[in-house]
Amino acid sequence: SRITLASRPILGACQRRAFSATVRQASKVTVLGGAGGIGQPLSLLMKLNPRVTELALYDIKGGPGVAADIGHINTKSVVTGYLPDADGLKQALTGAEIVLIPAGVPRKPGMTRDDLFNTNASIVRDLAKAVADAAPDANILVISNPVNSTVPICAEIFKSKGVYNPRRLFGVTTLDVVRASRFISQYKSTDPADENITVVGGHSGATIVPLLSQSGYGLEGKNLDEFVFRVQFGGDEVVKAKDGAGSATLSMAMAGARFAESLLKAAQGEKGVVEPTFVDSPLYKDQGIDFFASKVELGPNGVEKIHEVGKITPKEQELLDACLKDLKKNIDKGVEFVKSNP
Ligand code: NAD
Ligand code: LMR
Repeated sequence: SRITLASRPILGACQRRAFSATVRQASKVTVLGGAGGIGQPLSLLMKLNPRVTELALYDIKGGPGVAADIGHINTKSVVTGYLPDADGLKQALTGAEIVLIPAGVPRKPGMTRDDLFNTNASIVRDLAKAVADAAPDANILVISNPVNSTVPICAEIFKSKGVYNPRRLFGVTTLDVVRASRFISQYKSTDPADENITVVGGHSGATIVPLLSQSGYGLEGKNLDEFVFRVQFGGDEVVKAKDGAGSATLSMAMAGARFAESLLKAAQGEKGVVEPTFVDSPLYKDQGIDFFASKVELGPNGVEKIHEVGKITPKEQELLDACLKDLKKNIDKGVEFVKSNP
């Protein structure tokens, strides 16, 4: 079930020089769930990224088809597609520098992300086992919901296999920052591309905490409440509008591709690359909370430095307190799941 779609033309000396100047190292990116609603546009964006030299798409159905399609795009990366047969998962993962995981079911109207736990927890657990065996040094970017629980699930699996590296496991919360930046621009008539609103906590409802004050904005009263609500429940807007056909896929693909690009930049030596992400974090460990999203500086080894939450308003503190309560439950649920279903 493996198909290789790149042709490797014989390069002239000039072209070879240009090639080695732009591609400073081989970077294989693997997408698990690559044929899904997020997986397809995310894979497309990774194919357009010149830092990627190899792109492997794995899915329980459709991986090779999506790979055949994307593989015709005239960028240099080699694209391969895999199914579960013929050791497809292992082949997709071997040699990966980045593993993006958008595999699993999305919400329908009326569901919370936690309602996805029963289905997605075992999907993510099994994929994490395969990653631990075939790509133990890769950066793992978990998109599958509920992120607050699926990231701890991965950590527990990696620990049980003796390969846990907290610097290389990331819950992707970039979409919350993308939304916050877009929404604030609508209040302030600014260019959303210039906005970078800090969002901390986790990735669901009350655990999503936008810290507007840190961008120097003072929304008040109803405007502030509306803004916070939209950031916390932006995912629900899309679920409702799609009316049973799933949740955010295209904006998520953009957010996932941005995060992967940041990791590749950092791996290739760029300094000062900072992204918000849900990681194994010292910030609230004294309260029994092992994972938390805040701004994280990325480097060649993954997490380089975890930023403190910093100065916040009393209102933001209230939001943070509510976040921590929910977050602890979500994290504990993931850890418990692996204990009882190893
Ligand atoms: P989708 O149903 O369109 O695609 C999921 C894909 O996963 C499908 O192609 C399916 O075949 C595949 N899959 C299922 N089990 C698999 C397995 N064991 N191995 C490999 N592939 C498998 O769903 P979607 O819209 O792409 O959403 C995927 C997940 O991402 C959902 O859990 C959703 O809630 C989550 N999500 C997270 C964020 C975030 O911000 N982190 C944003 C949007 C969606
Ligand atoms: C989102 O924030 O859009 C995703 O987590 C998907 C969802 O279920 O809302």
